[in-house]
Amino acid sequence: MSLPQQVRLVDVGPRDGLQNEQQPISVADKIALVDALSAAGVRSIEVGSFVSPRWVPQMAGSAEVFAGIQRKAGVRYTALTPNMRGFEGALAAGADEVAVFAAASEAFSQRNINCSISESIKRFEPIMVAAKAAGLPVRGYISCVLGCPYEGRVSPAQVASVAAELHAMGCYEVSLGDTIGTGTAGETRRLIESVAQQVPREHLAGHFHDTYGQAIANVYASLLEGISVFDSSIAGLGGCPYAKGASGNVASEDVLYLLQGLGIETGVDLPALAAAGEQISAVLQRPNGSRVGRALLKQA
Ligand code: HMG
Ligand code: MG
Repeated sequence: MSLPQQVRLVDVGPRDGLQNEQQPISVADKIALVDALSAAGVRSIEVGSFVSPRWVPQMAGSAEVFAGIQRKAGVRYTALTPNMRGFEGALAAGADEVAVFAAASEAFSQRNINCSISESIKRFEPIMVAAKAAGLPVRGYISCVLGCPYEGRVSPAQVASVAAELHAMGCYEVSLGDTIGTGTAGETRRLIESVAQQVPREHLAGHFHDTYGQAIANVYASLLEGISVFDSSIAGLGGCPYAKGASGNVASEDVLYLLQGLGIETGVDLPALAAAGEQISAVLQRPNGSRVGRALLKQA
């Protein structure tokens, strides 16, 4: 299979990245991050989530973030929504797209959203109906596709079955999440081969956390499997509050550098993206988690 000519990058940093931060981050800093990403040319940005503030306190101000961003034409500003209440919040905030999130492992489903996999799918049904009526596309995430912090191994067949359900109920895209970042390139290829028997590759996306340093290799493995949408996080921010020890998503700057080297178009400007990464790292008072970002900055 030949490599795709274009890739869509979904920056999940403002949501997946920041959701795990214990320190307070101002709404103004979150808005500045989203605007810096759109200015760099990112066309899909996950701005926040409409979840219980008791579960994920950092995302409590997501509506204010949506209200304050400068909307750029052609950019999709998206939100994570676990239930109807979340969907209504996202709709009122003006999200262009929402994402529901399921897991491939029962234990993670319980810890993350307090219900079984099949209960979660049931909870998504009214969201699908309401989103259709409102004209909003719905994306579906699956967590723990290459391993679960509680159950260990997860079979590709199980992931394929959840992916098939999400796709059949109307998710235009299913993002495969290696939540704990244990997956390797070979496992990634086998996973995609298995899931693609149920959901066409053009409706799949890769979402790799970098805990074991394998994420960039897994992105490349996915490209070889015909995947052309990747979630990444500016400056490699993040982790998951319900996957202890999991580190951030693969850094957006690193994925962009890889893609540029392969001659794959994204529409994103690397120096501007690196500047956005540096800016949020300074806000968080933390070393920039992107190797490419750090290297570019040393040259500047
Ligand atoms: P629950 O306790 O079973 O539900 O939580 P509940 O209906 O009993 O509600 C509990 C409380 O939350 C109530 O408030 C509700 O009103 C409130 P209280 O009466 O106790 O004060 N509530 C809400 N508040 C705001 N917005 C809402 C909402 N819904 C209920 N939408 C629930 C179930 C799903 C709400 C909860 O488990 C939850 O919010 N979980 C979110 C967990 C989360 O955000 N995890 C991180 C994102 S997923 C992720 O990072 C993985 C991903 O990146 C892919 C990957 O890497 O694998 C996507
Ligand atoms: Mg994630």
